[in-house]
Amino acid sequence: MTEWMVLMENEGKVHIVKLEDELRKHKGLGVINTMRLLGDLEIGQEVLIGQKYLKRMPPRLPELIAGMARRAQTISAKDAGAFITKLGIGAGDCVLEAGLGSGGLSLHLAKVLGNSGHLVTAEPRDQHAKVGLINLERAKYCFEEFPQHTHIEGMLEDVVPEMEFDAIILDMPVHVPAILASTPTLKLGGRLACYAPTTSQLEDCWQACEDAGLKVEWAGELMERPWGRTSKGGMRPINGPFGHTAFLLFAQKV
Ligand SMILES: C[S@@+](CC[C@H](N)C(=O)[O-])C[C@H]1O[C@@H](n2cnc3c(N)ncnc32)[C@H](O)[C@@H]1O
Repeated sequence: MTEWMVLMENEGKVHIVKLEDELRKHKGLGVINTMRLLGDLEIGQEVLIGQKYLKRMPPRLPELIAGMARRAQTISAKDAGAFITKLGIGAGDCVLEAGLGSGGLSLHLAKVLGNSGHLVTAEPRDQHAKVGLINLERAKYCFEEFPQHTHIEGMLEDVVPEMEFDAIILDMPVHVPAILASTPTLKLGGRLACYAPTTSQLEDCWQACEDAGLKVEWAGELMERPWGRTSKGGMRPINGPFGHTAFLLFAQKV
């Protein structure tokens, strides 16, 4: 299996590098032979690459997220946490996720599913799937436990597998066909969730869930407001973007 290593700059920027015995360009690090330069580096030790000192860090979920390969917009910890808790996802569950995209949400799901879970992902765009699958390959190497993973190419509505799911999560521009096609695979008591950046998408999701016979439990937006220390002492909300990610909707098969 390919070995991966997590390196962190003093300022906190994370690089995830593949150990290979060949000279290759690594984004932000230049042309290096990672096996020769880093092969003996222990966790906690530092290495000088170019002008940068980098420390080898344990490969935990936040580091894998910080250093992940990116293409499609990813679901962040704020929303991933809500999906996991409101859908009740944990060890042994079988979860369907579409689209895979960069695999941001998949990394969170893989972490909580453990060895006994099964993650099924679907994605129609090769270029997106390539990035998502690399991130999952890294996680498989780095996590102590990793679920069975099945990836399916295509629009979910065309490729819904003949399986039963404890939870379904849909993050895509048009949810309705995927909701209608995947709901029959949801177990009784299982839940389907949608991630919808705009209000019109959210409304379509609500209607489609009801049309599919699901009971909408919760729809809304989660807000995150970071605080920091001021130069004169004390703490206050930091000046920075207070942005919108997406609306979340949860519906149950009852
Ligand atoms: C925003 S990205 C998903 C990001 C992902 N949740 C993450 O956290 O990295 C949306 C993805 O859905 C895919 N997609 C669009 N329509 C789809 C469909 N009908 N079925 C499955 N995937 C779809 C797109 O190609 C795109 O990669």
